[in-house]
Amino acid sequence: MNNLQSTYARIPLRIKIAGLSSFLIVLLFLGYTMVQYAVITEWILREQETSLNRTVKEVNGYIRQQDTINAEAIRASEPFLQQVIQQNQFIRIIDGKEQTVLFVSRSVPDSWIPPRSVRSNTTENFRRGDDHLLVARSPLQAAGFSGTVEVASNLETVDQLQNRLKMLVVVCLSVGIVISAAGGIFLARQMVGPIKRMAATMNKIKLRGVHERVASVGNGDEISRLAVIFNEMMDELEKSFHQQRAFIENASHELRTPVAIIEGHLRLLHRWGKSDPRLLQESLDAAMQETHRLKELVDQLLDLSRLTDQRIPADERQVNLSAVLDSLIRNYRVLHPEASFNRQVPETMSVYMNPLHLEQILIILTDNAIRYSGIDKIVTYTGRLDNGHAEIAVRDNGEGIPSEDIPYLFQRFYRVDKARTRSLGGNGLGLSIAKGLAEAYEGDIAIESTLGVGTTVRIRIPARE
Ligand SMILES: Nc1ncnc2c1ncn2[C@@H]1O[C@H](COP(=O)(O)OP(=O)(O)OP(=O)(O)O)[C@@H](O)[C@H]1O
Ligand SMILES: [Mg+2]
Repeated sequence: MNNLQSTYARIPLRIKIAGLSSFLIVLLFLGYTMVQYAVITEWILREQETSLNRTVKEVNGYIRQQDTINAEAIRASEPFLQQVIQQNQFIRIIDGKEQTVLFVSRSVPDSWIPPRSVRSNTTENFRRGDDHLLVARSPLQAAGFSGTVEVASNLETVDQLQNRLKMLVVVCLSVGIVISAAGGIFLARQMVGPIKRMAATMNKIKLRGVHERVASVGNGDEISRLAVIFNEMMDELEKSFHQQRAFIENASHELRTPVAIIEGHLRLLHRWGKSDPRLLQESLDAAMQETHRLKELVDQLLDLSRLTDQRIPADERQVNLSAVLDSLIRNYRVLHPEASFNRQVPETMSVYMNPLHLEQILIILTDNAIRYSGIDKIVTYTGRLDNGHAEIAVRDNGEGIPSEDIPYLFQRFYRVDKARTRSLGGNGLGLSIAKGLAEAYEGDIAIESTLGVGTTVRIRIPARE
């Protein structure tokens, strides 16, 4: 049984579909023609029988209406019999001793059917070699005469018709088999073709890379939809490959700059710096600054890769926003005494997050607000509950962002003014990390900005009971 199943499973799909569909069609056709054949033959025989019975009755009636019925009178009715007889028939009238009184025939010999008296109307099938005959008999009872009217018909034409029908069935069946097999093969090709093409493309993708696509099938059926979905999936995959590559290129580029700067200073020290205390101090300062930057960059990259790992949110709990902001602002006041901080946050407002994540987002935004503001730095935090979301906004009165740059700010390594922000120490990763964090909590982040006026960044996190 298992063996049979595995053999069946190994048959190509194309052959299974073609075979099964043509087998079913042939079966249906065979059944239909057989029923049709049986019905038609049955009907023709019935017709023949009725026609013979009618003739018997007519002859009987004609003879009976004579005044006196005897052999002579019967013989006199021959002209009438000649009128009613048809091709391949005989009419025979026999007496009580089964002796022929009158015999009229059209190509059916007397001897083919032995005479037989009957007491009631009968019909009988008679085979004689290849010939098939049908005999109808009816008693002829009258005063002075008792006999039988026999009408026989050679069903040669009926047989011929039957043979023709049989031939027709055979021919139609063979044609049907051929057509249904062709149809089955066509159908199978139609169905299996696109699947095969898809398999071939997948193979190519395996060998040559993600830019290959399945040719469109274009008829909108399930298989073509599968191809479309597959192509869309490959588009996504290719896009993410490109993003990945761009990310690695950007990252290595960003890493290379501080390393090159450190290398330059070390070389300088190596040649002259040992004897020049001023140069020594300067180079060490620069190298330390770049090392710090390098460390920050590596930390940020790690954060990003954790975000894509979907390993957060771990340690989620209710965090009071005011409390987090309190400690944050306290630290920033030490780091940036020139900046002032405002907050308009309800004391009781809290969000469900890992507190470290909330803090990280706020640091990223506060960093930006301070870094990209002029001398007068005012950072304002607002918090409110809105439509099932906790919304936290960080506003500054800094330089603002050109509107054409806003859509790209969340891309990794994107900086508005490459040269200037680099000197300010930005890597272009802060906002993409913040966005990743917000999205990990099913929240989102949005930026509004007016050049020369300031920037507001809004984070929305779904609130919980
Ligand atoms: N508040 C802001 N005002 C003006 N420009 C901003 C502000 N916030 C971000 N930007 C612009 O958007 C860019 C991207 O910001 P993002 O925080 O992602 O990176 P970054 O600050 O350059 O570097 P880092 O990775 O250190 O944060 C910045 O380079 C800056 O040009
Ligand atoms: Mg930043």
